[in-house]
Amino acid sequence: MLGDSQSFKKNTQTANSCIFRESGAADLAAIERLLRDANLSFHAPNQSKGNPHGSAFSQTRSIHTQVCEIGGEVVAVLQWRQVGEEAEIFELAVESNHRRRGIGGLLVERFLSLARERDVKEVFLEVRESNAAAAALYRKFGFIVTGRRPNYYCDPQEDALLFHLNFKGLVPKYLSYPIDSTFTQR
Ligand SMILES: CC(C)(COP(=O)(O)OP(=O)(O)OC[C@H]1O[C@@H](n2cnc3c(N)ncnc32)[C@H](O)[C@@H]1OP(=O)(O)O)[C@@H](O)C(=O)NCCC(=O)NCCS
Repeated sequence: MLGDSQSFKKNTQTANSCIFRESGAADLAAIERLLRDANLSFHAPNQSKGNPHGSAFSQTRSIHTQVCEIGGEVVAVLQWRQVGEEAEIFELAVESNHRRRGIGGLLVERFLSLARERDVKEVFLEVRESNAAAAALYRKFGFIVTGRRPNYYCDPQEDALLFHLNFKGLVPKYLSYPIDSTFTQR
């Protein structure tokens, strides 16, 4: 179960010092490094959503960035944007040596909570077809595959699977997950 303290017994040191918060300007370099290292690469140039850390980022007020910080270092990031009652997650990355400890799940959980507070009704995102880890993560939160974008990604070229979550009628059991009390949420 995501967010359950069991997830973090794998690494007590991580659990004791993990902070989830909104990013600030001082985090940009760390976020860039995280996304580069995650090698999400990326949307095909003609479909690019733009580099969220460049000028487009600073001008796009609807973009929200949540980070997870451990020991003063940003180790995970989730970026999303809202248009009306719809939201899109367009970046999610956890530093490789901090994966499988529940951090990605907690970021998604936190995003869903924020999105609901902002009256989001539906969430969309794309995942590389071969990205089993991300697909499993999103499925755990109730996302379903609703389509495919051929050759959406490059380096290497690959289809994207479209994932969708509809809050309407959904029992938001993920929102009742007990966040480990050692975590700080700002
Ligand atoms: C995908 C990613 C964000 C997951 O982050 P994480 O912190 O390791 O995920 P969690 O520990 O919270 O795992 C939550 C669930 O995701 C799924 N999952 C995570 N990693 C997985 C893996 N390597 N294989 C299969 N399932 C996996 C599991 O269902 C897991 O639940 P479980 O631990 O009960 O089995 C991380 O692997 C990552 O940064 N990958 C590179 C970037 C990327 O692919 N981003 C997604 C782009 S859409």
